[in-house]
Amino acid sequence: MIQTATRVAVAKYDDLAIRAGYAVKLEDQEIVLFKLTTGEVRAIENRSPHPKGNRLAEGLVSGEYVFCPLYDWKISLIDGKVQAPDKGQVKTFEVEIADGNVYLVF
Ligand code: FES
Repeated sequence: MIQTATRVAVAKYDDLAIRAGYAVKLEDQEIVLFKLTTGEVRAIENRSPHPKGNRLAEGLVSGEYVFCPLYDWKISLIDGKVQAPDKGQVKTFEVEIADGNVYLVF
């Protein structure tokens, strides 16, 4: 069986402000998009892995990391890993940009 990837349009590229979280909901998943200063867009689960589980859309982006505003955990927007000394990981999603749209690829 050939399985093809599913692409879901979730935002207009121009609607994303640099370094500001843009939350989207897909079925039961909350995902947040971040446009980096390079213009690239990253998508991760919209929930800090910290036990308090704050929404990462409110986080502060610096380079390729988002800092959770509650306890300042530093989370990679590349692989979703929480940086030491804290531990954990959030899900990351593949992003595609085409024709002015931002797609998530599953
Ligand atoms: S909720 Fe605690 S660091 Fe994000």
